Amino acid sequence: MQDSLKESFLKDISEITSLNDLLNLKAKYIGKKGIITEKIKNLAKLSLEERKSQGKILNELKQFIEELIKNKEEELKQKEISESLKKEFIDITLPGKNFYFGGQHPVNKTLLEIIDIFREIGFTVEEGPEVELDYYNFEALNIPKNHPARDMQDTFYVSEDVVLRTHTSPVQVRVMEKKKPPLRFISPGKVYRCDSDITHTPMFHQVEGLMVDEDVSFSHLKGILVYFLRRLFGENIPVRFRPSFFPFTEPSTEIDIGCIICSGSGCRVCKGTGWLEVLGAGMVHPNVFKFAGYPEGKYTGFAFGMGVERLTMLKYGIDDIRLFFENDIRFLRQF
Ligand code: PHE
Repeated sequence: MQDSLKESFLKDISEITSLNDLLNLKAKYIGKKGIITEKIKNLAKLSLEERKSQGKILNELKQFIEELIKNKEEELKQKEISESLKKEFIDITLPGKNFYFGGQHPVNKTLLEIIDIFREIGFTVEEGPEVELDYYNFEALNIPKNHPARDMQDTFYVSEDVVLRTHTSPVQVRVMEKKKPPLRFISPGKVYRCDSDITHTPMFHQVEGLMVDEDVSFSHLKGILVYFLRRLFGENIPVRFRPSFFPFTEPSTEIDIGCIICSGSGCRVCKGTGWLEVLGAGMVHPNVFKFAGYPEGKYTGFAFGMGVERLTMLKYGIDDIRLFFENDIRFLRQF
């Protein structure tokens, strides 16, 4: 009788797979109204002899059941833990979410490079206002009202006497008004012209340069600008000087480098000439010294100006200036 009870318990427990079922099984055999518990209660009805022998067997069976349930409980708990560990496993070898580092804008990169090159050879950096008086932008640069040279630049007028500067040259006069030679500085900044196509934007950057002393000559201009271009574009870049015209320099020159795209054989970028214009320059016009308040005939000097976007386009082979201002991350990430 008790043996078959033991057998049925062993069968029952072998089929248990969850803690919940195990609790039910425990209740079934040794709970308050469990089979074994009932049997133990019923012992009282038996004779003393039977009570003794049955009691011993039942107690042993109860202990046996308790022991097995305890073991099974341990086993099921372990199983539950290892299953949840398996389910919650994090594969730390999976690739993470990519993010990108920010970087310098290509125009800024070129600008800083230009500044570095000139700083190394003793040029300081000066700044001037972007909203400029007509006087500094034109008048003091030897471009009087109604001068045909005003047509060279499409000016944004703020009022009759105030403009958005069309070039960085007004900084020449502003600095000379305040400082006496020897002067050797560059002046980077934004300039504005009413113009827009694949090589022109209404705002772009220029770097102006000015060197003034008692004996500055055209050969200084040449030496410094050739040195600068070789630092920026490489030691072997061909450089040529063409006569040109600016109202605030005399003589004036435009400086070309050999085309970086076709190395001089002629292409779309250099329009078949093999050359690319990169700088405007010249010896400071005596009238500009006069406007700056310098004594007549005492000083000589040279000035130059360059477009930073244009230089950047040439350096990196970019053919549309508008890309610089769209801030398309796919474009910017390439630098
Ligand atoms: N300011 C001129 C321009 O905008 C460049 C220049 C600067 C030319 C200084 C000569 C001397 O084109």
